[in-house]
Amino acid sequence: MVFLRSFSVLVISEEADKLYNIFDSIGITLRKSTGTKNVKSANFSLYDIAFLDIDAEGWEKRLMELKQYMPVVAFGKPEIKKAVESMKLGAIDFLQKPLKNEAVLEIFQKFQEKPEVEIPGLIGISKIMKDVYCNIRKAALTDSNVLITGESGTGKELVARAIHNLSERKENPFIVINCTAIPDSLLESELFGFEKGAFTGANYTKKGLIEWANQGTVFFDEIGDVSPLFQTKILRVIQEGEFIKIGGPHSIKVDVRFIAATNKDLIKACKEGSFREDLFYRLNVIHLELPPLRSRKEDIPFLVEFFIKKHSSKRKDIHIRGITEEALDTLMNYSFPGNVRELENIIERAIAFTNSTEITVKDLPTYLLKTSNPKKTLHGNLREAVENFEKELIWSALQKSRGNISKAAELLGIHRQQLQRKLKQFKIAT
Ligand SMILES: Nc1ncnc2c1ncn2[C@@H]1O[C@H](COP(=O)(O)OP(=O)(O)OP(=O)(O)O)[C@@H](O)[C@H]1O
Ligand SMILES: [Mg+2]
Repeated sequence: MVFLRSFSVLVISEEADKLYNIFDSIGITLRKSTGTKNVKSANFSLYDIAFLDIDAEGWEKRLMELKQYMPVVAFGKPEIKKAVESMKLGAIDFLQKPLKNEAVLEIFQKFQEKPEVEIPGLIGISKIMKDVYCNIRKAALTDSNVLITGESGTGKELVARAIHNLSERKENPFIVINCTAIPDSLLESELFGFEKGAFTGANYTKKGLIEWANQGTVFFDEIGDVSPLFQTKILRVIQEGEFIKIGGPHSIKVDVRFIAATNKDLIKACKEGSFREDLFYRLNVIHLELPPLRSRKEDIPFLVEFFIKKHSSKRKDIHIRGITEEALDTLMNYSFPGNVRELENIIERAIAFTNSTEITVKDLPTYLLKTSNPKKTLHGNLREAVENFEKELIWSALQKSRGNISKAAELLGIHRQQLQRKLKQFKIAT
């Protein structure tokens, strides 16, 4: 049996040496390991799997803590009651002492087939995503505010929802506030609401979004793009947990957890003076950075399979089962400036266009065929090559601007009308 990768193993036992000997004899490479009992939980996300000796005192508490971060294999004297108890508490397996080489090997084989640290709704098996999953679990265990950063389309909103759904607040509301969609003039009434009679036309009492979120989570999306007024208004509620309704007699207390997301560099914005430092520190208690898709290409096949399943029912005439190797190869060679959202759009579009039960290269957008393999573009004439390059730039700008033509034109440094002409010329639909 050849192991595809080495493991970071956490062994918590007085008899750790015996396990290390077994790892050695069954050919497992340890990237990181430790046999002490006093590993700090802050370092738990560094490990792939834990082996916990349940003959030691306090193993139950240890197991509950460890399983939040990684799969835990319990081992101990052959006592059925304790073995069952450990599985009930969340161990993925129980091994009897004295430990046997084959039993340990089997654990690693199973573990390699199926990543155990998963988050419902999030696809990806790369090491970098597993670290993200660990951090999501950690964040869900606390009530601290979270700042999620990452390029457009990397899954920031999905991660915010996952944190909420895994937290103790999961039964309560998750309120998304699309910060850029609220003009300053409506800010207070949207966020905090108003009392009846507060101003002309206020003939009823309105609850604001923050009050609706009581006991739940507020997700401030695109926090890096908000006005100074917005920043000032939310700072107080984040700091004090209270706000005043327009026309209200006194402040109202709320119990809300805040998660914010942005694709902007907030540290830079703080230095430039466009983002309040005090607000940044209030939000950035836990920081989660989502990796771009191009840095975790091994996740692409899993995401493709997931999106095919998600969208295939939209075709009533044929049942799309998968993707050809050649088409998958093309996707693996592309840089995805629009990240997971772009991949999802490509698959959804391919499902709409394909004539076969498998997505083929022909069903992928042409700009992708031309740009994914650099050798191919070298064969065309100069005009063709320039056009391909232009197409890729335009597509990337459109992804970043989420289809907003004026914004894309600004990114490209050309006029809106010029971009519209190019879109027509290249037959790019927006
Ligand atoms: N790891 C993932 N697994 C499955 N689907 C994902 C994953 N990451 C992102 N997606 C999907 O990709 C799309 C974009 O994700 P999301 O809206 O969370 O990104 P975002 O980072 O908030 O983007 P933006 O900055 O543009 O708002 C969604 O349809 C989401 O479901
Ligand atoms: Mg988003």
